[in-house]
Amino acid sequence: MPKITKAYCQNLDKKDPLAHLRNSFYLPKGKINMDGNSLGSLPKSTKKRLQEVVQKEWGDGMIGSWSSAGWFESPIRVGNKIASLIGAAEGEVIVADTTSVNIYKALCAAISLNEGRKIMLSEKGNFPTDLYMMQGIASFSNGELINKVVEPTAILEELTEEVAVLLLTQVHYKTATIKDMRTITKKAHEKGILVIWDLSHSVGSIEVALNDCQVDFAVGCGYKFLNGGPGAPAFMYVAKRHQKNALSILSGWMGHQDPFAFTDEYTPSPDIARFRCGTPGILGMAALENGVDLFAQTSVKALRKKAIALSHLFMDLMEQECGEFGFTLASPIADEKRAGHVAYSHEEGHGIYQATKKEGVVSDFRTPDILRFGITPMYLRFQDIYKVVRIIKNVMETKAWDRVEYKIRAAIT
Ligand SMILES: Cc1ncc(COP(=O)(O)O)c(C=O)c1O
Repeated sequence: MPKITKAYCQNLDKKDPLAHLRNSFYLPKGKINMDGNSLGSLPKSTKKRLQEVVQKEWGDGMIGSWSSAGWFESPIRVGNKIASLIGAAEGEVIVADTTSVNIYKALCAAISLNEGRKIMLSEKGNFPTDLYMMQGIASFSNGELINKVVEPTAILEELTEEVAVLLLTQVHYKTATIKDMRTITKKAHEKGILVIWDLSHSVGSIEVALNDCQVDFAVGCGYKFLNGGPGAPAFMYVAKRHQKNALSILSGWMGHQDPFAFTDEYTPSPDIARFRCGTPGILGMAALENGVDLFAQTSVKALRKKAIALSHLFMDLMEQECGEFGFTLASPIADEKRAGHVAYSHEEGHGIYQATKKEGVVSDFRTPDILRFGITPMYLRFQDIYKVVRIIKNVMETKAWDRVEYKIRAAIT
């Protein structure tokens, strides 16, 4: 393979059909965001949009903005926009709460539809909140429900007629490994099991086909690839066929079929709106909507194509520049199995993460030894990848990672 040079990377940027999208983001000098899989960068228009929401809609419009500025319908409106990114239909996605809360809602809804079955099934190493939510429900059920967490390789053989619901994450948060949504969902359905997919690392990064795969429920984050801002509201997908009968466990007034009737009895909305609970946070919603609207300028397919090219460049450069420094690729090498970040394990991972951060590489570290590098094609350039790998190389050559203060794990990594 010929040596990859800076000029070669700059040339790739010149030919990049998505290069213009970068102009939509505020990207501070001296930093490269390789953590957009955890917190997407700030779209320039979001700053402006939030000022407008605060001043015009809240300041001038006051409470009237619930109707005149479309605040009330925003969970459904933004949900419909997200639906188009994940292969869902209009009216199947609602923006509300956090991903953790939506997992809880989806688990309870699925259990309610599968009466008589006791088991909630997931896999070891799934994102902790997914497992914790199952534990919480089981501990509150007085032994009625069982929380079962098995080895990832054992999932298919554990699909039995006692299982009510299977909860899996499509893209693994550490390794970016993509699960086969279609096959797993089909096999679960053959045993009458309902399936919830956590799309936190999928949405806006890879093409998702919820309806085509007959998925029952899904949830996901708004602050990662959707660029919705820190703590952006999350989303929940409920297949149309389940909406009328699935329990809305968080039976707040906003999910009532007629919230402003103010009746004493809870009558859930017959559609996706029953999965609203309380009043949506409009500032967070506005930021998320603005982030999602950027997708109208391109397609997930085009973004994925560029992400694969950026990931290849990163892995090739890591081999070329850092091959001697003991990094082990922790993500799948095959494109169809790896989503929107590239992970390496290294025994000095924490120190390397800290030392590269000092040089402007914004990435993250996951215990025990995983360095994650987010690949966000909306604003990353090929030359940024070159720069990041050169910084890593320099940190390794100078042993800048080897400092006493880096031996203690930071509270947030
Ligand atoms: C796969 C996955 N699920 C759920 C969450 C947590 O979501 P939240 O903290 O918004 O509830 C995350 C956060 O990173 C995640 O990666």
